[in-house]
Amino acid sequence: MNLKIDYTGCMNLLSRDEINMQSEEALGHLKKLMEGSGKGSDFTGWIDLPEKSQTQAGKIKNAARRLRSQADITVIIGIGGSYLGSRAVIEALDSCMPLRADDQGHKVLFAGQNISEDYMSRVAAYLAGKVFNIIVISKSGTTTEPAIAFRILKKQLEETIPAAEVKKHIVAVTDAEKGALRKLTDREGYDSFIIPDDVGGRYSVLTPVGLLPIAVAGYDIDSLTGGAAEMASRTRDNNNANPAIVYASVRNLLYKKGKYIEMLVNYEPHLHYIAEWWKQLFGESEGKEGKGLFPTAADLTTDLHSLGQYIQEGERILIETVLSVASPSTEMIIPHDADNLDGLNYIAGRRLSEVNAKAEEGTIMAHIKGAVPVIKINIPRVNEAYLGQLLYFFEISCAISGYILGINPFDQPGVEAYKNNMFRLLGRPS
Ligand code: PA5
Repeated sequence: MNLKIDYTGCMNLLSRDEINMQSEEALGHLKKLMEGSGKGSDFTGWIDLPEKSQTQAGKIKNAARRLRSQADITVIIGIGGSYLGSRAVIEALDSCMPLRADDQGHKVLFAGQNISEDYMSRVAAYLAGKVFNIIVISKSGTTTEPAIAFRILKKQLEETIPAAEVKKHIVAVTDAEKGALRKLTDREGYDSFIIPDDVGGRYSVLTPVGLLPIAVAGYDIDSLTGGAAEMASRTRDNNNANPAIVYASVRNLLYKKGKYIEMLVNYEPHLHYIAEWWKQLFGESEGKEGKGLFPTAADLTTDLHSLGQYIQEGERILIETVLSVASPSTEMIIPHDADNLDGLNYIAGRRLSEVNAKAEEGTIMAHIKGAVPVIKINIPRVNEAYLGQLLYFFEISCAISGYILGINPFDQPGVEAYKNNMFRLLGRPS
C-alpha cells in the first residue's frame, strides 16, 4: 500500500480541465527541478537524499548506539529546519513520551528552539544531576537560539561529569567548514556529522540533522529513508499520476480562486509536529514576493471545539488538507455500561478508531458543504516507512508548488529582519 491523494473534495470548485492544464505546467516545473535549471537549483541536493542518506546510515546508527549506551537522555539542540523534522518523526512515532508504559525508553528532549528562560530552566532542572548527551545541530553554526542552549547545557554537563568524559557526550551536526559550531567542534574534538551545502534547513530531515536524533530515539531510519525512496520513485517521474504534481496543482488552482489559507489537519494528535514541520516547509519556501498560501494547522477533533465554527462558517478562504490515517497502531474498545447514563451504549463494543473515522468523514462532508475544499492524504498507518513517504511527498510538492508561484522555494531572505533588530537591540558588536 502507498500514500494516496484524494482531491474529490475540491471538485465543487475545480474542473478536470483546469487540473489537467495546471498539471501540464507543473510537469514542466518538475523537469526544471530535476535538471537543476529552476530558481535556487544550488539547493536541490535533497532530491537524492533518500538514496544518498542510506550510505551514511551505518555511521549514524553507530553514533546513536553509542549515545544510547552511555546515557538515558539525549537533548537535541536546534531550531527551524535543524529541529522540526526530527521532532515531527519522533513525536509521530511516540507522541505520549511522558506516558510511556514502562518508562524504559531513551528519553529525547528538545532545546534551543526558543529563548524562553522558563523553558530552559525547566530543561536544566530536569537534567540536574543526570548524565545526558547533547546533539547540537546548526547548519550555519551561528544561530542564536541553539548557541545559547548549547552554552548553558554544555556547562551543566561539564559540572556533572568528569572533564575527560564530556566530549563523548556531545555530537555536532553542522557545516563541513564554516561557522562557530564547526570551529568549536574541531577544537574540542566532538564527534560530528556534516550538513551538505546543497541542502537547506527545511529540506534536511533525511540528512543527519533528522536521522541522528531519530535513530537515538530508537526508530528505524532505514525504513524512513526506504519510504522516502519509494515516494521519490513515484514523484520524480513526469507522469500525470504523480501525487506531488496533483497536490501542487490543486492547491495552486485553489489559491488562484481566493483560497489563501491551507490548513493541515489530523485526527491523530501525534501528527501535530508533522504539521509544524509542514508549516515551516511551505511557509518559508513560498511566502515571498507578496505571494503564497498561508500554511496553518489544526488537531481534530480537538480543534473542532475551538476553530470548528470558523472553518464551517467564517471567511471562505480556507483549504483543508487532511492527514487521514487508515489504521491505528493499537486497539481500544468502548466498554458497555449497564446504566448507560451517558447514552453511549449505541457505540459500546466498537473501536475508538471507528468513531474517530466517522468523525473525520462527517467533518469532511460538512466542510465541503460549507465551501471548504478538502484534499485528503490517505496514509495506511503511522510508521517510519509511511512517514518517509509523507516527508518526501511534501518536499517535492513544495518545490513544484513554489515554481508554479514563480518564486525561489529554497531561500529565506525574510528571516533576517528580526535577527538584525534583535542584535541591534542587544548591542551585539558589529
Ligand atoms: O530552513 C531554514 O533554513 C531555517 O529554518 C534554519 O534551519 C534555521 O534558521 C536554523 O538554522 P541553522 O541550522 O543554521 O542553525
